[in-house]
Amino acid sequence: MLNLLYKSSYVFVLFYYAIIPLGYLTKWWVTIEKMKGNSTILVTGGGGYVGSHTVVELLKNNYTVIALDNMINCYSGNEKPESLKRVEQITGETVTFYNVDIRDREALDKIFKTHKIDSVIHFAALKAVGESVKIPLTYYQNNVGGSATLLEVMAKNGVKSIVFSSSATVYGNPQFLPITEDHPTGQGCTNPYGKTKFFVEEIMKDVCTSDPEWKVILLRYFNPVGAHDSGMIGEDPSGIPNNLMPYISQVAVGRREKLQVFGGDYETPDGTGVRDYIHITDLAIGHLKALEKIFQCDFRSWKAYNLGTGRGYSVLEMVKAFSEASGKQIKYEITCRREGDISACYADASLAKKELNWTATRDVKDMCKDTWNWQNKNPKGFQKS
Ligand code: NAD
Ligand code: UD1
Repeated sequence: MLNLLYKSSYVFVLFYYAIIPLGYLTKWWVTIEKMKGNSTILVTGGGGYVGSHTVVELLKNNYTVIALDNMINCYSGNEKPESLKRVEQITGETVTFYNVDIRDREALDKIFKTHKIDSVIHFAALKAVGESVKIPLTYYQNNVGGSATLLEVMAKNGVKSIVFSSSATVYGNPQFLPITEDHPTGQGCTNPYGKTKFFVEEIMKDVCTSDPEWKVILLRYFNPVGAHDSGMIGEDPSGIPNNLMPYISQVAVGRREKLQVFGGDYETPDGTGVRDYIHITDLAIGHLKALEKIFQCDFRSWKAYNLGTGRGYSVLEMVKAFSEASGKQIKYEITCRREGDISACYADASLAKKELNWTATRDVKDMCKDTWNWQNKNPKGFQKS
């Protein structure tokens, strides 16, 4: 009798601690897999740098993608951005594309009526900091007004989940490092572009308060760099690049003479600015992890996650790493600081690891190698001649 009791308690323990959790795990996994295969994602700004790389990962994971872009900042290959044509070559899939502005309510509404959209990844925005200081109203109208219109049309069509491209810029001048998601936001955002990211975050939080059916994930990117490892898509800034990595790669390819290093007197190990650079493919995968989170039935309201590596690199470290990856000497001179720049900024990315099961796997070597591969194969970016 005692022996039987002993045996049955063993079976109970096995059932309780192994079979039930395994059952839950399988159910959760099957739900995610089912969502992937059956979900249609609207990607705004899909022709851009982050958008096009994310579309590749979505298609690889069997999502159906509807991309829209007004092509204000991507090279147009007539009816479709050239970046998305390349995405089609990489994946062997066709991307449904609309040349639509997110402020065009009727055109947006038509897309939601034509397709059964399950969720939205919202990249569409203007992003040049200097330009935003000169034409602030254009930035507020496009980024803030456009996002409000998108949210209205989504609500009208019963689509109430969105992943938003936010930025570490919402943290302003960091009060502590590494930056966690509970660092204050909106204080010390010195330019209109940064403020638009903060305002849209606040609008989305208010929308969640007003209606508990909304699900929002705010992804705060640190410094996205690199390119798809095929070298077929990458960052293609128009005019003189504002950001470090595209500038370095244009020096390497001979389009620019030398890099100006903005400031050599910061309180950092070598005196130059320190940032948390993240490979674009890692960043793109972060969006898929965010979607998986948003599709979980217990996810409610909004949540912000940092997407970074947690490790800072100085400007001179990046120059050295790029030089090694490309085999090219990068000429540079140290000049005065750029107005509005901060000394150091890097993420605590542990929340994304814990809750999204996401972590950056590509290092600075990969970032430089892939940037160089893209730049070398496409010296003029998407423009062919
Ligand atoms: P990008 O300029 O390459 O892509 C944005 C795309 O949106 C462009 O193709 C542009 O044509 C489109 N667009 C702009 N306004 C539009 C509108 N009103 N309607 C439809 N399409 C519109 O920029 P990116 O680097 O791919 O950035 C994507 C998002 O990520 C942006 O919201 C940006 O603010 C954010 N972000 C980018 C970085 C970065 O360093 N790249 C860092 C933090 C956050
Ligand atoms: C930029 C954006 C910021 C955005 C962030 C993430 C500006 C002013 N800010 O910030 O809004 O959230 O990217 O992508 O564009 N540097 C040089 N020489 C150059 C260019 C840059 O020395 O020609 C230095 C900068 O001083 C900085 C580092 O390189 O120390 C990185 O600069 P950049 O690539 O512009 O990124 P952020 O300044 O972090």
